[in-house]
Amino acid sequence: MRLGTMSVNERGHLCIGGMSTVELAETYGTPLYVFDEDLIRQNCRRYVNAQDCPGMVAYAAKAFITVAMARLVFQEGLGLDVVSGGELYTAIRAGFPPENIIFNGNNKTPEEISMALRSNVGRIVVDSLDELDMLTTLARKMRVRPRILLRLNPGVSAHAHEYVLTGIDDCKFGISVKGGAALSAVMAALAAEEVQLVGYHVHIGSQLLDLDAPLLAARVLLQFALQASESTGYWPTELDLGGGLGIKYLLSDRPPDIEQYVRALTGCVREFCTAHGKPLPYLLFEPGRSIVGEAGTTLYTVGATKLMPGDRHLAAVDGGMTDNPRPALYDAKYHCVLANRVNDEPVSTYRIVGKCCESGDVLIKEASLPELRKGDILAVLSTGAYNYSMASNYNRVARPAAVLVSSGRADLIVAREDFSDLVRLDLLPARLVG
Ligand code: LLP
Repeated sequence: MRLGTMSVNERGHLCIGGMSTVELAETYGTPLYVFDEDLIRQNCRRYVNAQDCPGMVAYAAKAFITVAMARLVFQEGLGLDVVSGGELYTAIRAGFPPENIIFNGNNKTPEEISMALRSNVGRIVVDSLDELDMLTTLARKMRVRPRILLRLNPGVSAHAHEYVLTGIDDCKFGISVKGGAALSAVMAALAAEEVQLVGYHVHIGSQLLDLDAPLLAARVLLQFALQASESTGYWPTELDLGGGLGIKYLLSDRPPDIEQYVRALTGCVREFCTAHGKPLPYLLFEPGRSIVGEAGTTLYTVGATKLMPGDRHLAAVDGGMTDNPRPALYDAKYHCVLANRVNDEPVSTYRIVGKCCESGDVLIKEASLPELRKGDILAVLSTGAYNYSMASNYNRVARPAAVLVSSGRADLIVAREDFSDLVRLDLLPARLVG
């Protein structure tokens, strides 16, 4: 499986962005997140170009955000979807235009809402009536009139891990369209002079590998909008269809492509509006994984190898669930290649494990690989999304560095943590000294 600008050089080394991953590992150490700048840019452009009606593609920061990443998506003309004060802070530090920021989240704190209002973010997605109350109070105090969307829960399931389903009835996100809650929220939002209701938001889940569920969710949303317009006269000027498009983790994964996805959803909204004589709302998308997932590769150094009972081979690498918790959390599957000997034929099935004190610290259950030796560089593919952003310091493991590569150059975008970073926030009460 080759992604983006991946190639193999004359020495049999995996290259990304014209850089040998073996040299990157030598220069920056491992584990190392390598981001393919050209592939990120290409994915951004594919989204923007596929949108053939007024709208905005807002990159979902939760997938992977740093100041450099925020700049990159800004340069490509995307907006940004943030879900916390920390993500918003990163965006502001990057000089991201606030009017193109969407603030999501199911339990924003008063401090986060005040920060969003102070920063003049373009849209706040309201997740509950409690939040609407808090927002109106704060907006009144601060004499601002934020533009809001209501996050609606369409009660739609999808083929994805249950932990990443966000549009089913039994889930914490959004206001249910069933049972009248959403309609009451629309009436409350229209009645609140402190806010400007611009539309509705829906997001049903992540790593979606077919279009049925997102299309169904869009139809439920539109149908709700139509019914609500009959009783309130309000028709949304904006619709945010969230993110969720899946990517290729394994050779066998067949996600729809970006163009298919955007066109199918845009087409669905357009058809509905035409059929019901309604103006086409401004359309927002919030992709995260499909922008950055395949553009990220994690490099590890192989350490101990063992032959397990039943002739099973095991190889331990110098990272694991601290830099990629997804296999342990979601049983996520990954593909890997031996970066320093890409052309060698696979000879064994290896279990690739990490270095944490947890049996569940397994990165790949079965990987078909050439014979692994201590010091080999292993590249795990499609680790750009929800890896660095979900990394931890468990076992006081320092988090890896990240480099951005393009056209034969590499730039650090996240420095490697060192041990002093690990104790930076530790405090020592006087009674423990001496
Ligand atoms: N918009 C909203 C409101 C979201 O909640 C999410 C993801 C996105 C956009 C972006 O979705 P994407 O295009 O990346 O699928 N940690 C999990 C994924 C959680 C996704 C949460 N929401 C994982 O590693 O699979």
